[in-house]
Amino acid sequence: MEYRGYDSAGIAVLDQGTIHWRKKAGKITNLDAELAARPLPVSGTGIGHSRWATHGGPTDQNAHPHLGGAGRVALVHNGIIENFAALRAELGAQGVVFTSETDTEAAAALLGRELEQGADLAEGMRRVCRRLEGAFTLVAVDAADPGRVVAARRNSPLMVGVGEGENFVASDVSAFIEFTRHAIELGQDQVVDVHVDSIVVTDFEGRPAPTKPFEVTWDLSAAEKAGYDWFMRKEIFEQPQAVADTLLGRYTAEGALQLDELHIGEDELRRIDKIIIVACGSAYYAGLVAKYAIEHWTRVACEVEIASEFRYRDPIIDGSTLVVTISQSGETADTLMAIRHAREQGAKVIAICNTNGATIPRESDAVLYTHAGPEIGVASTKGFLTQVAACYLLGLYLAQVRGTMYDDEIAAVMDELAATPALIQQVLDSLEPIRELAIRLVNKDSVLFLGRHVGYPVALEGALKLKEIAYLHAEGFPAGELKHGPIALVDDGVPVFVVVPPQGRDQLHDKVVSNIQEVRARGAFTVVVAEEGDPEVAAYADVLFGLPKVSTLLQPLLAAVPLQMFACEVATLKGYDVDQPRNLAKSVTVE
Ligand code: F6R
Repeated sequence: MEYRGYDSAGIAVLDQGTIHWRKKAGKITNLDAELAARPLPVSGTGIGHSRWATHGGPTDQNAHPHLGGAGRVALVHNGIIENFAALRAELGAQGVVFTSETDTEAAAALLGRELEQGADLAEGMRRVCRRLEGAFTLVAVDAADPGRVVAARRNSPLMVGVGEGENFVASDVSAFIEFTRHAIELGQDQVVDVHVDSIVVTDFEGRPAPTKPFEVTWDLSAAEKAGYDWFMRKEIFEQPQAVADTLLGRYTAEGALQLDELHIGEDELRRIDKIIIVACGSAYYAGLVAKYAIEHWTRVACEVEIASEFRYRDPIIDGSTLVVTISQSGETADTLMAIRHAREQGAKVIAICNTNGATIPRESDAVLYTHAGPEIGVASTKGFLTQVAACYLLGLYLAQVRGTMYDDEIAAVMDELAATPALIQQVLDSLEPIRELAIRLVNKDSVLFLGRHVGYPVALEGALKLKEIAYLHAEGFPAGELKHGPIALVDDGVPVFVVVPPQGRDQLHDKVVSNIQEVRARGAFTVVVAEEGDPEVAAYADVLFGLPKVSTLLQPLLAAVPLQMFACEVATLKGYDVDQPRNLAKSVTVE
C-alpha cells in the first residue's frame, strides 16, 4: 500500500507461524537500510506500506504494519478511520494496550480480537469492516494461516494483481505491473481473500461480489502517473477525492465541526480581534478566497499578506491576532519566516498544510491538514483546492466557536461543501472542449483573467497557472478595476477569461456581465466561466463553460478547475514539461 505517502514505511512477513516486521520513519531508503542491517526471513507471504501520516506523526512507532491479537495479525491501512477514538476506548477497556497514536492500530486490535474469538482471517476482516466508519483500505496477514492475505476497501482504492503462481493486492497497479498486467479492481465495500492459487471477493456480509477484471495497458513509468501524461493532469483529476478527504471526519453526527488537530483553546479563539493570512503563490490566492468567507461568517477583520512582504512592513500584531498560514509543502521559507516573526510578536499561528510533520506545521501553534496526498506536479492544483476547502472549515469553525452563525446555517454550508466533490467531478467530466480552446489560443501573446469577489482570486490563479507552465503572459484583475487602466490592454482578439458569480446575488452578477460587454466591445475574445443555464451571459461569450449551481462563496472550488486544465493543455501543446516547468521548484526553501 503506497498510494499517498512517503514519510515512513514498513513490512511484515510470515515465517513458521510468526510475524516478522521492520518499520522506519522517513523515506523508503531508511527501511532498505534497516532490512540490510537486520534481514527478514525469506517468505512467500508479506505486506508492506509507505505512509502519509494522518493520525500521529511520522515516527517508527506510528509506521505500519500494526499488530493485533498479541502479535498474531499484522495490518496496513490507507485512509482515515473516523470512529477510531471510540474503538480505541472500547478496546482499551478490554485491556488492549496501544503502542502507537494511529487510528490503524484500533483496526489491527479489532481484527486480532475477532481471530481470537474463532473467525478466520477473511471473516474477521468482514466483521471489522462492518464496525469501521470513514475511508480505508486494509490489508492483513495471520501468523496462524500462512499463504493467505486478506484485504478490504471502502472509499479508498484497492487493486488485485493476478499472477502465475503468485497474486498481489496493492493500492495501485504500479506496485505489481512489473509482475502481471492482469488486474481486478475491487468495488466499494468489498473484501478479497487471496491465496497463491485463488482469489475470492465478497461484500462485507460474506456474499459473493461481482469483480471488474481488466488488463493494464500502460508501461511502468506511465503507471506511476496512473496512465496520465502528466502528474499535473492526474492531480487535477484527483481533486474530487482530495477535497472529500480534506472534509472527511471534520463534522460530527451531532452537527458540530470538530477540528481535532487544532490545539488552540476555544476561549483563545473567542478573544481574537484580527486574522492575518500569510502565504505565497497559489496558497496566497487560496487565502484571498478565505478572506471573503471568514469575514462574512465570523465578522472578524481578515487581512491577507504575501508572506515575503509580511515581516518587512512591521505589521501590527499582538496576542489577540490570529495568524493563519497556508502552505502545501510546509517548507516555504518566506512563509516560515513570516510565522516566526508573527510568533515573536505574540500571535498564535494556525498552519493549513498538506505535509505532515513539515517545518511550518511544526513551528505553528496548531495545524489543520489538507489531505490532498502528495502533489508532485510543480503547479499546484489539488493543493490549491484543498487549501480553499480547509479555509472554509476553519472559517466555519471560528463562526461556531464565536457564535456568529447559527448551527443550522453552519450545517447548510457543510452540506453544500460535502456535495462539492461530486460537482467538481461533473466539471471534470465536461472539460473536453478545453483542448479545442487551447488549440485556438496557443499562439496568443497574452491572456487576461477577470473576476469579482471570490472570482477575483480565481482569476489570479488562472493567470498564474498559465504563466508558470505555459510561459504565456497572463494577468488576473478584479473585473471592476479594468476601467482604471488595464482595459487599455484589450485589443482585437485578445483572450479574456471572465469568472461570473452564480446567479442570485444580482448586483455582483450583473456587474460582471457588464464587464464582459465592455471588453467584448473592444474586440476581446471572451471565454466565460458561469453557472450552467445562466441566460445573461451566452450572448457575450465566444466560448462558454458551464458550472453546476453552487453558492457564490464556494464557487472557487469549481471555477478554478477549467482554468487549471486550460493551462495544462496549452503547455502540453507547446511541448513543455508540464510537471517541471523551467526555473521553478516544488518547495521553495530560500527567501
Ligand atoms: C503555483 C505554486 C506556487 C506555490 C507557492 C507556495 O502553482 O505551486 O505558487 O503555491 O510556492 O508553496 P507552498 O504552498 O508549498 O507554501
